Amino acid sequence: MAEIHILATFLSILLILSSAPMVESAIGVNWGTISSHRLSPSIVVDLIKENKIHKVKIFDAEPDVLLSLMGSGIEVMVGIPNEMLAVFSSSPVAADLWVRQNVSRYMVKGGVDIRYIAVGNEPFLTSYSGQFQPYVMPALLNLQQSLAKANLAGFVKLVVPCNADAYESTLPSQGAFRPELTQIMTQLVSFLSANGSPFVVNIYPFLSLYGNSDFPQDYAFFEGTTHPVADGQNVYYNAFDGNFDTLVAALNRIGYGQMPIVIGEVGWPTDGALSANLTAARAFNQGLINHILSNKGTPLRPGVPPMDIYLFSLLDEGAKSTLPGNFERHWGIFSFDGQAKYSLNMGNGVLKNAKNVQYLPSRWCIADPTRDLSGVVSHIKLACSVADCTTLVYGGSCNGIGAKGNISYAFNSYYQLQKQDSQSCDFDGLGLVTFLDPSIGDCRFLVGISDTSSSSGPCGGWFAAWVMVLWMFEFLRIMGSL
Ligand SMILES: *[C@@H]1O[C@H](CO)[C@@H](O)[C@H](O)[C@H]1NC(C)=O
Ligand SMILES: *[C@@H]1O[C@H](CO)[C@@H](O)[C@H](O)[C@H]1NC(C)=O
Ligand SMILES: *[C@@H]1O[C@H](CO)[C@@H](O)[C@H](O)[C@H]1NC(C)=O
Repeated sequence: MAEIHILATFLSILLILSSAPMVESAIGVNWGTISSHRLSPSIVVDLIKENKIHKVKIFDAEPDVLLSLMGSGIEVMVGIPNEMLAVFSSSPVAADLWVRQNVSRYMVKGGVDIRYIAVGNEPFLTSYSGQFQPYVMPALLNLQQSLAKANLAGFVKLVVPCNADAYESTLPSQGAFRPELTQIMTQLVSFLSANGSPFVVNIYPFLSLYGNSDFPQDYAFFEGTTHPVADGQNVYYNAFDGNFDTLVAALNRIGYGQMPIVIGEVGWPTDGALSANLTAARAFNQGLINHILSNKGTPLRPGVPPMDIYLFSLLDEGAKSTLPGNFERHWGIFSFDGQAKYSLNMGNGVLKNAKNVQYLPSRWCIADPTRDLSGVVSHIKLACSVADCTTLVYGGSCNGIGAKGNISYAFNSYYQLQKQDSQSCDFDGLGLVTFLDPSIGDCRFLVGISDTSSSSGPCGGWFAAWVMVLWMFEFLRIMGSL
């Protein structure tokens, strides 16, 4: 009897040891591609590898991006845009096709290590007024079936990245999901829990600070605050922990207090607003990384930091909508061309720049200083409606360059967007091409990068063609079986 008991104890200790390894949170990155100067995917993958980043989150499943990730060993979260949820909610066949075309296909030896599928992106965002809400659960159920049919259900997990606006409260311990979301959140979290998926949340102290002039500045960062938040016995010294524990309390309230949490997006922009600058972005991101890697956790989850965090973002995306603010195009830890904006240590030494970036020739378009520029307003409007001029605004890195500087900046931005096409520096004779870099102080006049259309190389090209052929067959087969 005693021996059996000892053996049982020993076995259960073994079990506990093996089931609860000391896993360190991993720091991953979001890789968005809404850029007018797009680095070739293979250069981006090299950049990620060179910086020993092991996890990447993308917002869709573009073939050129996924092909470039093949054999890289990088763990990937692919995404399904909100607009596609309706189809997957009503059509199991469409869900099957998506999984085949965008997941199974790549899950081969030497393929892409897809671990998660983000089903929608912040589908419950308040500003969407519930338009995607009815599709989330049915889409999840169909996609889960598709994964099961593809024998991938045990390996690839479905998640739904939520904005932190899904929950609210003044004190973390009182956290609750928005009343109109309580039901769907209960269904969602129960689904996630049953399938071994984490809850994915995007947390942005920057937006709290940007949107609220009463928000204590130092509470957004990690260096201590003169405005700590006392919550019963717990004291919060930074907005991130307070926000995280509000979610923990909200999950607890619906019966899932132990649910693992992944931070799908977190970061700080560097331009386009007063509080968006290099110093602040570095302080926030480095403070965050150090905090996560210290494994301290939060008052409600001491010693249990989020499973993983994905920094937002890897690269600047100069073609994003500026509706949220002019900072929206400047979230990258790297600029559009893969140059580190500031020194950041993600746990493996400071950031290293992208290699082999092919730039257009070193020339710029500026306002001709000999010309009367009074008629220039319409040109600037047009240039800046397609090219990026968000650094010119109040708080931006190019705000102080004067009226002529503004014009030159707009001209150049447009010229580079047009790949330095000579016509694009005309502006009714007001533009002038120069070989002297007009950059002033922190204000950088960019030079575009050239389209390296051979990005995937001959091998990748053949593979892509082969994949296309397979898709065609698959498609015909499925259509035939209807
Ligand atoms: C696969 O993903 C891409 C990119 O998001 C999308 O355009 C395409 O429609 C998807 N394929 C299917 C069959 O849904
Ligand atoms: C950068 O942002 C921080 C944080 O909001 C702010 O306190 C600081 O004044 C900004 N620095 C500059 C130079 O604008
Ligand atoms: C340059 O443009 C920015 C953004 O439109 C504006 O805030 C600033 O006042 C302009 N500077 C001059 C000197 O006109």
